[in-house]
Amino acid sequence: MRTETASATINEPAFTVDNFEVRGEDLPEFRDMKFEDINELHLDHPGANDTEYRKRRDYIASLAKKFRETGVITNVDYNEDEQNIWRVVANRLEEIQARRASEFYLQAKKDLGISNARIPQLTEMSRRLKELSNFRLAPIEGLVETRAFLSWLSWRTMLSTQYIRHHSRPEYTPEPDIVHESIGHIPMFTNRAFADFSQFIGHGARVATDDQLEELGRLYWFTVEFGLIEEDGETKAYGAGLLSSYGELENAFTDNVERRPFDLKEVISTPYDYSDMQPLLYVIPSYGYLKEVTKNYIASF
Ligand SMILES: [Fe+2]
Repeated sequence: MRTETASATINEPAFTVDNFEVRGEDLPEFRDMKFEDINELHLDHPGANDTEYRKRRDYIASLAKKFRETGVITNVDYNEDEQNIWRVVANRLEEIQARRASEFYLQAKKDLGISNARIPQLTEMSRRLKELSNFRLAPIEGLVETRAFLSWLSWRTMLSTQYIRHHSRPEYTPEPDIVHESIGHIPMFTNRAFADFSQFIGHGARVATDDQLEELGRLYWFTVEFGLIEEDGETKAYGAGLLSSYGELENAFTDNVERRPFDLKEVISTPYDYSDMQPLLYVIPSYGYLKEVTKNYIASF
């Protein structure tokens, strides 16, 4: 895990750890974000040999670069092929989510106006998020290093890609895309406790030692990406890696997976393998619980 310090390149905020009402004027300037080595498309990406796809992905990524100069999110004029990928994946996921997703998540998707009919724009989701939980979205052109990514949560801001996966593998993407962001991550930020928990992770990332950062990466993985929650006596999914993948979401509830009660100490010392289906998942009792244990943990840094 790489560990350059993002906070060295952005201004220190003028608010305290317990301030969940971060104002626009508290935010660092987006033009001050200097990310090293933002991930380009890898050779194992299904679109790696498709020049048209690569051109389109680069164009949409360039809009994120423009955001860092202007601070204004550009809506993407998604074409019919892109909309079709969305419809296929969103419809299939919705059917599994109806049985497997957290009740909160299912409601949040409606509250944000995310529909199977068309790809949602970051502008509209960010506006609504701000009203509901004072969270924001900022476009980014690819995966960035862990500390920089997590640090932005400290300002109640989630960095989000805008391009969509390749049509040849609608069920799969090796990198985040608009499906993973808006069907996986974004709805959960409307939950106040989850949003506050995310902000604590961000605070932690800004001051963590390299070892602590690795622990935070594991906490993020087993919650934000692959978290399960106990709801009315049933185990449900709230992690984005589960909610945005039919394979992972079905698999999470089979005997292939060990589902353990969430234990923070155990989670932060448990390694994971991102390249395969997850064999071990952790179940939280509530979002409020996750927020409280994370707050105490971060306070110990
Ligand atoms: Fe993710």
